[in-house]
Amino acid sequence: MSTGNMNLTLKVWRQKNNIAKGSLVDYKLSNISPDMSFLEMFDVLNEGLVDKGEEPVVFDHDCREGICGACSMFINGQPHGPLQGVTTCQLHMRSFKDGDTIVVEPWRAKAFPVIKDLMVDRTAFDRVIAAGGFISVNTGNAQDANNLPIPKVKADSAFEAAACIGCGACVATCKNASAMLFVSAKISQLAQLPQGQPERYRRVQSMVSQMDAEGFGNCTNTGACEAECPKGISLENIARMNRDFYSAKFVSEEEV
Ligand code: SF4
Ligand code: FES
Repeated sequence: MSTGNMNLTLKVWRQKNNIAKGSLVDYKLSNISPDMSFLEMFDVLNEGLVDKGEEPVVFDHDCREGICGACSMFINGQPHGPLQGVTTCQLHMRSFKDGDTIVVEPWRAKAFPVIKDLMVDRTAFDRVIAAGGFISVNTGNAQDANNLPIPKVKADSAFEAAACIGCGACVATCKNASAMLFVSAKISQLAQLPQGQPERYRRVQSMVSQMDAEGFGNCTNTGACEAECPKGISLENIARMNRDFYSAKFVSEEEV
């Protein structure tokens, strides 16, 4: 009787370190449950490799529930695999068929160098955030929410931008390895709220300059980032960031 379980061939990118030449290595897996998550399927692969005395495949993961942005696998040519609006950890094996061959590669971008196998260094994103993705306020008791009325439309739009989990799929899928969807989301979540106004123009200049220094490419409006983003971050954020970036040139030094 069929169990509905699957036999699969994986072609997984193996690379010893940042300077080694990597290659795709074939692995056969059998009896994989369609209810496993993609990362659980990798756990099965790694347990088998450890049992054989081989090195497990290194890959990033943390929350395994679509929140942290750590899981970063390029699956059959798509970041986070074939489903829209989900991260790799939320992808299940029922999205594949018995007998499938699945190619798994790391994010590929100059600003995201491979550390080992499927794990890449995404600290470039941290440095962009450190350049301006914050507000400077004195700490103390939380204000009464009614002190800062925010129109619902603005609050919703800022919240949608804040949904970015910093996974880097937008960079990985972009032919220019542009980080503009990520950076614009981080700018937009603050630029639409009163708390973000005092540093608004300094922030956009500083974060864009860090983004360029990290070696991310430019946006040429292909829209692959928006199509592949697991959190549905809109291209409108890039338009907002560009408007603020140009406006910053006309704001007096004191204001910036
Ligand atoms: S914009 Fe989307 S794809 Fe890019 S880092 Fe944020 S959540 Fe990931
Ligand atoms: S492991 Fe946290 S989003 Fe996938």
